Amino acid sequence: MKYKIPRGTFDILPPASARWQYVISVFRKTAESFGYQEITTPIFEQSELFERSSGESSDVVQKEMYRFSDRKGRSLALRPEGTAPVVRSYVENNLGMLSSRQKLYYVGPMFRYDRPQAGRFRQFYQYGIEFIGSDNPYYDAEVIALEMTFLAALGLQNLRLEINSVGCKACSGAYEEALKAYYRPHLPQLCTDCQNRFELKPRRLLDCKVTSCRQFRAGAPSQLDYLDATCREHFDSVQRYLKLMNVAYEINPAIVRGLDYYTNTAFEVLYDSLGAQNTLAGGGRYNYLIEQIGGKSTPAIGFAGGFERLLLALEQESVELPDELKPDAYLICAGEKAVNLAMPLLISLRTQGLYVDFNADKASFKAQMKAADACGARYAIIIGDDEVDSGKVTVKDLQSGEQVSSEPAELIKVMRP
Ligand code: HAM
Repeated sequence: MKYKIPRGTFDILPPASARWQYVISVFRKTAESFGYQEITTPIFEQSELFERSSGESSDVVQKEMYRFSDRKGRSLALRPEGTAPVVRSYVENNLGMLSSRQKLYYVGPMFRYDRPQAGRFRQFYQYGIEFIGSDNPYYDAEVIALEMTFLAALGLQNLRLEINSVGCKACSGAYEEALKAYYRPHLPQLCTDCQNRFELKPRRLLDCKVTSCRQFRAGAPSQLDYLDATCREHFDSVQRYLKLMNVAYEINPAIVRGLDYYTNTAFEVLYDSLGAQNTLAGGGRYNYLIEQIGGKSTPAIGFAGGFERLLLALEQESVELPDELKPDAYLICAGEKAVNLAMPLLISLRTQGLYVDFNADKASFKAQMKAADACGARYAIIIGDDEVDSGKVTVKDLQSGEQVSSEPAELIKVMRP
């Protein structure tokens, strides 16, 4: 019996794993430079948390959630996204009492039972941030700027940032009514999915890919015409801050987010040449979510991006990322006695943080020299009969060819002057 990896999942193997770690480290660094600290929540939560937050009629809850019962019959779900767990933790741990503003980031696997394709998986990895505690439009811009700074730090260029405002409960409701009024006479011409979404999720009609539905999109009313004065001002201020921060954007009144909790600002970062799954990241404000899941009414905003799509985009732009780890040194031993001298040295150098490679299987001196060159090590540490007799080791700089003799204890100084 041969086991296969479950559909829609993947292994992260070396050397690609080094690229993943690099991208994660750049994200952490960027988030920390904006004052964010890491939060880690469990991979599973009570299913109800997602039902209440993502929206019971959302695709994530209706079709994509990995739900299961534990041995006591509790209904649990593998997290399909990171915002609801962060908010659950914020409320449960009273984080609002510790500081009126929480700046949190996370990195980890999410799970959605979706049709796998390029850039869409059943287990995928998200990086995300959540800013909780202020409705100030400055923070909307800051959150967006963080994502754009991260992507720029990786060297990605062909990006587009789209922003929109979906308004507050009042203006959003008025807009959805207008949208329904517009689409109602066309209902018979819409696809079955759109007909089903019409009542509960009229916004979703705007992003239907079916041609017969798309023809109505251009004439549909725009959310931006339905914003009340406060929401309008908020949106204008977000744009003012984005301009001040040199963040380029386009307004797209038809941005439709798949999750139900958004209010006011919604945004997406697109990488067009990725095809159907071209959204690298998405997010927005969710001013009602915290009270919706039992906390005190608190405004918040955040976003999440997918690592898989990001790595695909980086590949398409031929951005070079560090992959293979190159050893600082390769240890070469000729004979058993040499091994006695080499072992304490090997451990000592590794303890001091140097990556020293060594092949314990018997190989000729020549073969070991060849391996040292092939692996890209900077130095070869050579221990043969002469070295055993003198108690010193030979260090060869594999770039310059220079060779020196050193006391084992002094070796680190030769390699890290
Ligand atoms: P989302 O738009 O559902 O938002 O997902 C964010 C990103 O995760 C997407 O833009 C995409 O890059 C990636 N992603 C989603 N599903 C998949 C999949 N099946 N396979 C590969 N990548 C995927 C959220 O999850 C919100 N929690 C974002 C947020 C944070 N809003 C406020 N705070």
